[in-house]
Amino acid sequence: MPEAALAAAGPTVAGALRDATALLALARCDTPRLDAELLMAHALGVGRERLVLDARLPLDPSVLIRFDALVARRKAREPVAYIIARKPFRRITLNVDRRVLIPRPETELLVEVGLTLPFGASVVDVGTGSGAVALALADERPDLVVVGTDVDPGALAVARANGTRLGSRVEFLRADLLDGLDRRFDAVLANLPYVATGSELPPEVARYEPTTALFAGPDGLDIIRRLITAVDGISLVALEVGAGQAPAVAAMIAGSVEVVRDLAGHERVVVARH
Ligand SMILES: C[S@@+](CC[C@H](N)C(=O)[O-])C[C@H]1O[C@@H](n2cnc3c(N)ncnc32)[C@H](O)[C@@H]1O
Repeated sequence: MPEAALAAAGPTVAGALRDATALLALARCDTPRLDAELLMAHALGVGRERLVLDARLPLDPSVLIRFDALVARRKAREPVAYIIARKPFRRITLNVDRRVLIPRPETELLVEVGLTLPFGASVVDVGTGSGAVALALADERPDLVVVGTDVDPGALAVARANGTRLGSRVEFLRADLLDGLDRRFDAVLANLPYVATGSELPPEVARYEPTTALFAGPDGLDIIRRLITAVDGISLVALEVGAGQAPAVAAMIAGSVEVVRDLAGHERVVVARH
């Protein structure tokens, strides 16, 4: 298209991205350009890599309206994953909404621990949320028998829908930790709530993520402490913890204990083997 016709056609992809990035930076979003690109790709229904090729194209007015609405939500600090309703995690993509915590990259460490299990082992992902750990592990290790549990029916509905969409054979059960489960497992993997009640959190977390997925008493360890009392005799237990909590959790759990650090160098997962 000639330059004059392009200008008359309204904002281009590149122009709208520039404006949105400036707006999101003013709203103190951590990664304004990346967020704008993810929202633009969503509004256009294309992959993010397509935006470079289409940078000079004028935006269809209906797409611009859609994009502006998505940017307004992000400006109010709603996480991108809730706005676009999905989050990649290892080799799979999970559908997410406000009933579940958005899976974090550091939680992929729990899956890596699960990959060390012997052929055919049984494993339970306690507090499965969107089903992230259970579904990613089952995807990478089809020989394992994988179960996901959550106390929250809303979270379980999201996990089950993800399992069905991905064609996974993971079974999802409602349970308070391991209470009432009628079988023994070789391994327990868990990213349970570990934030100290009353902690200050970024707006993305405090305003949008479910409180049942976050808070666990004055030191953040109430739920993990309770789980540890129920895992006696289980061969492998891997627990994700918050910054600074690893020594306390390692001291509570029996067996040969190792602490795995995340990419930021924080002690993130306490692993106990018998
Ligand atoms: C921090 S979120 C983690 C979700 C998911 N594992 C992930 O990593 O994305 C914690 C999850 O534990 C669940 N939960 C909280 N208390 C629980 C309990 N007593 N028994 C089972 N699940 C629980 C919450 O509903 C929430 O889905």
